[in-house]
Amino acid sequence: MENSRFQELLKQKTAYVNDVLEQYFPVEEGLQKTVLEAMNYSVRVGGKRLRPIFLWESFLLCGGRTEEKAYAEPFMAALEMIHTYSLVHDDLPAMDNDVLRRGKPTTWYQYGEATGILAGDGLLNYAFETVAKELARIAAGDCGGTVPGEERLKRAVLALEVLSRKAGVYGMIGGQTVDLEAEGKGASVSEEELLFIHKNKTAALIQAPMMIGAILAGAGESQVALLESCACHIGLAFQIQDDILDVVGDTGELGKTVGSDAQNDKQTYVRLKGLEQAEREVETLSLEAVRILDSFEGEHEFLKELVMQLIGRRK
Ligand code: IPE
Ligand code: IPE
Ligand code: MG
Ligand code: MG
Ligand code: MG
Repeated sequence: MENSRFQELLKQKTAYVNDVLEQYFPVEEGLQKTVLEAMNYSVRVGGKRLRPIFLWESFLLCGGRTEEKAYAEPFMAALEMIHTYSLVHDDLPAMDNDVLRRGKPTTWYQYGEATGILAGDGLLNYAFETVAKELARIAAGDCGGTVPGEERLKRAVLALEVLSRKAGVYGMIGGQTVDLEAEGKGASVSEEELLFIHKNKTAALIQAPMMIGAILAGAGESQVALLESCACHIGLAFQIQDDILDVVGDTGELGKTVGSDAQNDKQTYVRLKGLEQAEREVETLSLEAVRILDSFEGEHEFLKELVMQLIGRRK
């Protein structure tokens, strides 16, 4: 795929995700307005929207149709809410203590620490509220479309199980726990521990959208497992590149302060293996992800190009 074509598609798909998100933002009203504002600020402020895009592309890859976008959209919104909450909490003084995110003040820095905590909680809960509302709608028979209600409900419940597991203690939260415990131990953190951290804090929230996209499209267990593995490779590459950018990136371009990992004495792939080896690993992992994608018959040219483009990303 030509780069100009890819860039154009990426722009369109990002705009589509932003439109979807707008439909799901809570209304900023009532006495609890502050937390609603802080939640919407955290999401609206920007971000690459990769996880909803991964969900949508996996949905199409597994035979989902554009006319059936209503199956995917609540989950796309939920994924971005959960991802954003993970960033809001990750930036807190008690965690990475960062003040810049997505080119703007971090949520806690803008609204104060307590509201930062509550906005994260709010986003996490609102993500599941959004999915629960969708389940209730399907269960009430209020869904239309070509897939029979019972089958659609089954898919949505399976997707919910994946979402809760990958976001939780056996996924992102588990990874963040070990990441924080490893802080200050610097170079003594083993490769095995670092792999656990990367797989859970980052890859799990890329596995979730890719698996969910497939499940909602009606993919079977073996296809879902293949995408779980594919997303694991993408996620590891993504976090290694994130670690690289924390060393060689540009704060303005990245939208977050570089040098945060060194400041917090974090173990990173760059620290463990050096910059060159880290760069090679990003490429190897991405090529393996593409190899898995190529075993699918469905349309995946854009997805493949996305994985390749993320190798040298600067933000
Ligand atoms: C940042 O994720 C956190 C990591 C898992 C490395 P992104 O780089 O996808 O952040 P946004 O959504 O574009 O801000
Ligand atoms: C965090 O990893 C991944 C999350 C689960 C939020 P980092 O701490 O490296 O992410 P950044 O660099 O702050 O975005
Ligand atoms: Mg962190
Ligand atoms: Mg951080
Ligand atoms: Mg980082």
